Amino acid sequence: MIILGIETSCDETAAAIVKDGKEILSSVVASSQEMHTKTGGIIPEQAAREQVKSIIPVISESLKQANKTPKQIDAIAVTVGPGLIGSLLVGVETAKTLSLIWKKPLIPVNHLLGHIYASFLEQKNLPKFPSIALVASGGHTDLVYIKNHGNIKWIGGTRDDAAGECFDKTARLLNLPYPGGPSISRESEKIKKEKLTKYPRPLINEKNLDLSFSGLKTAVLNSVQNKKLSQKQIQEESAEIQEAIIDSLISKTLMAIKKYNPKSLIVSGGVAANKRLKEKLRKEIKKQYIEINLYIPEPKYCTDNAAMIASVAFFNQEKTTWNNIVTDPQLNLINTHK
Ligand code: KG4
Ligand code: ZN
Repeated sequence: MIILGIETSCDETAAAIVKDGKEILSSVVASSQEMHTKTGGIIPEQAAREQVKSIIPVISESLKQANKTPKQIDAIAVTVGPGLIGSLLVGVETAKTLSLIWKKPLIPVNHLLGHIYASFLEQKNLPKFPSIALVASGGHTDLVYIKNHGNIKWIGGTRDDAAGECFDKTARLLNLPYPGGPSISRESEKIKKEKLTKYPRPLINEKNLDLSFSGLKTAVLNSVQNKKLSQKQIQEESAEIQEAIIDSLISKTLMAIKKYNPKSLIVSGGVAANKRLKEKLRKEIKKQYIEINLYIPEPKYCTDNAAMIASVAFFNQEKTTWNNIVTDPQLNLINTHK
């Protein structure tokens, strides 16, 4: 089955052609990130205007790269939420129109589920169920238990800010460019320091799967405001911030594994592209003798893309028609699944 995936929930405009949920025939991502770097963050109205301009060329390019015609497409999958309403509508309205003209079924997809299914792309051995997934993106940080396709239970996550948001906001306090995650990671790599314990890891000793990141932002603000930081101080601050965020994520993820004893662990969302997170998580799994199959997509499939949307659609074929699709900017992982 060949699916065209469309993803426009945030600042990217993406389209992909995916065969049977895992074989990527093409994946095209146009980003207006340069524009947002200038403004230090996303201006939703501007993001949507850029997406209106790029959506058709991006879809055409995805078909061209996959060497497919619209006739050869079996279904169209589109992100319906969560995300920025203006941006989501660009993708959804385009998908509806194409579905009507090309007479193809439409499959609505939850963007967060998309991040999880990025781990099904290009895999010989697919993640086995039950799985635990950590989804850490710019707007969400959730831990979920997946019993099977379509059977997913929220088991924990952040009480306040998302991990990616924390990277973005603290990077801004250090005058580092948007998006903050890659900037902080880059700066951190420039110094070698073993002991990185300056900032607190809230809730880490509590026996629940709750996370919290808003306090870190305030702690960094108190530490750096009204100071002119040297390059070295910026690097040290970055390494401290990165370590605090990933320690919290790793500790609660491992707690979830011990509690639920899943067969596989999926780590996904933009933050999963973080090198230090991957290294430290692998090391901890080994150190604690945890037997689990770990899935972390390659960096370009951790961040927003449309291949992951087509993958969700294949494994959870909830087909609908163009006039029944509902866009929901507030959609989360709890209210879409049993
Ligand atoms: O999943 P994503 O591409 O978009 C959303 O759905 O939000 O995630 C974007 C987030 C941003 O907050 C960005 O700073 C963070 O992922 N991010 C990273 C890295 N690459 C992207 N965070 C830490 N390290 C990275 N290498
Ligand atoms: Zn995302």
